[in-house]
Amino acid sequence: MAPSAEKSTNGTNGVQTKDRSNLIPFSSRLREGRALAQDVWSIFNAANLPSDCINLGQGYMNFAPPEWVKSAAEEALNAVATNHYSHPKGRIRLREAIKAHYEPEFGRTLDVESEILVTSGANEGQYSVFVAFLEQGDEVIMFEPFFDQYLPSVTFNGGVPVYVPLHPPSHGKHNSREWSIDFDELRRAVTPRTKMIIVNTPHNPVGKVFTRDELEKIAAIAEEHNLLVMSDEVYDSLVFDDNEHVRIATLPGMWDRTVTVGSAGKMFAATGWRVGWLIGPPSIIQPTLAATTRIVFCSNSPLQEASAVGLEQAKKRGFLKQQCAEYAERRQILTDAFDKMGMNYTNPQGSYFVLLDISNVKWPEDYPFPASVLGRGRDFRACWFIAMEIGVSSIPVSEFYCEEHTSIGESYARFAFCKDVDTLKAAAERLQKLKKFLV
Ligand SMILES: Cc1ncc(COP(=O)(O)O)c(C=O)c1O
Repeated sequence: MAPSAEKSTNGTNGVQTKDRSNLIPFSSRLREGRALAQDVWSIFNAANLPSDCINLGQGYMNFAPPEWVKSAAEEALNAVATNHYSHPKGRIRLREAIKAHYEPEFGRTLDVESEILVTSGANEGQYSVFVAFLEQGDEVIMFEPFFDQYLPSVTFNGGVPVYVPLHPPSHGKHNSREWSIDFDELRRAVTPRTKMIIVNTPHNPVGKVFTRDELEKIAAIAEEHNLLVMSDEVYDSLVFDDNEHVRIATLPGMWDRTVTVGSAGKMFAATGWRVGWLIGPPSIIQPTLAATTRIVFCSNSPLQEASAVGLEQAKKRGFLKQQCAEYAERRQILTDAFDKMGMNYTNPQGSYFVLLDISNVKWPEDYPFPASVLGRGRDFRACWFIAMEIGVSSIPVSEFYCEEHTSIGESYARFAFCKDVDTLKAAAERLQKLKKFLV
């Protein structure tokens, strides 16, 4: 904990001065949830890597939102009302667009007043659900590897994360569906303090699209123990091949206990816009509205308007289908490169990440690693080595596991393919140089 009082120190001229650098003690909640630990994003940040390193680490696009969505944003900035506060529930135009887009997906009518809530990105929406529902000590089950933001969002609100790992197949090139859930393990993780379970499909970083059967089993556990289900479906428009995206909220009885999370950032290549949404029954949306109103009051107005135009026009323009096909092509560039190198990887069914098995990458014993990656999983060193020597950055997957389960993630590096084709082709070419470091 930071010192709470001023310390006397000796100034350069020998005069006693007060150290005022840590005058006000910060909250201990920052310690939990790894909020103070150096996070993986700052270690593998462009600023620390060679200037020409190709960034396949962070999951944001290096291309702009579609022109017609951008011009809707411009139009909104040029109007008056759209530059001011929106209703905390979200702009009605966006809520109507969400309703029209998702009603067929959920197979039910959605009430724009009580069942849809616009939030400042999926992140803030999820945070608001935790604020609204967690009591001190309530346990929240999350599958590992997990989207790293869940952890602090849970602990800041008094919750206790409980981890259930997804298990990769033992070896070889495989499909993301083969990362499996041990349902006995999941059942054992449930205690009388369990309040919530987070499901993320399509999954970051595995790319797994949970099957109907898996979701039915999770639903049965949620029903038996009266759990709230947070279904993070921000990659729902990126499901490849003939995989079926099943929404757990649509399974029998599940609507009443499920909140589904969406993101305009992922849908329209606009991650910095910070527009997301929650869909669920009034019993979940109303308390969450109360929380989000006191956190941000309302979300970014002009970009809500542009997101509404995005959703209104996406289907008739064939945009989402086309975008998904483009992502499938981007995925292929990476997986072809890994095949050519003879390396194993997880072929993702959805989202925009490929996990490369880096367990056979070997670097010189005396390789000069910085302190930030020493003492972390082996994957931290592998990703550092690949970034420095090959010129392509990726993210070590053990970051998305609790300490106890680090060894499961240590064999993988996450490569994001939300980048343009030329960038991916250049990365694919560079990655071939890794062959000489394989054992
Ligand atoms: C699984 C998952 N959930 C939520 C988010 C956050 O989405 P947003 O940018 O809309 O807050 C991300 C972003 O990377 C994600 O990968």
